[in-house]
Amino acid sequence: MSQQTSPSNLSPQERESLLTAARNALKRAHAPYSHFHVGAAVLTDQGEVFSGCNVENASYGLTNCAERSAIFTAVQATKADKLVIRAVAVVNGNDVPCSPCGACRQVIAEFGEDAIVIFRGQKDYVEMSLQDLLPESFRLS
Ligand code: THU
Repeated sequence: MSQQTSPSNLSPQERESLLTAARNALKRAHAPYSHFHVGAAVLTDQGEVFSGCNVENASYGLTNCAERSAIFTAVQATKADKLVIRAVAVVNGNDVPCSPCGACRQVIAEFGEDAIVIFRGQKDYVEMSLQDLLPESFRLS
């Protein structure tokens, strides 16, 4: 856990169930162009877990990352009035280092400025706070 930059407030069970949900979502990835399969899962402040996979398109720029797929599902499916994300987990089919892209970091910030993000680092899965991954995220004020 050398890259862990903040203490996790996730229990081992929450962390494992989030990674399991991301791994299940990975199986649904639609990635015929990059062949890079990604799954993600988000944990809400209600204890709910929502997952998503990357969805590519023949018009490459229309691709949706797994993280945003999971978050957009959570927005419409959470029982809460307003989505609050506690944690996000990301896995990939190649088991290579893969932190969320910049666009996904900004989308995570919209709903989880205090979120913990779990992703495959250089050696193992690591946890970083969203604030460390995206300092000074954009806010409309
Ligand atoms: N991808 C994700 O789904 N999440 C990431 O964090 C990085 C990249 C997807 C987008 C595209 O379908 C494929 O991986 C290759 O870039």
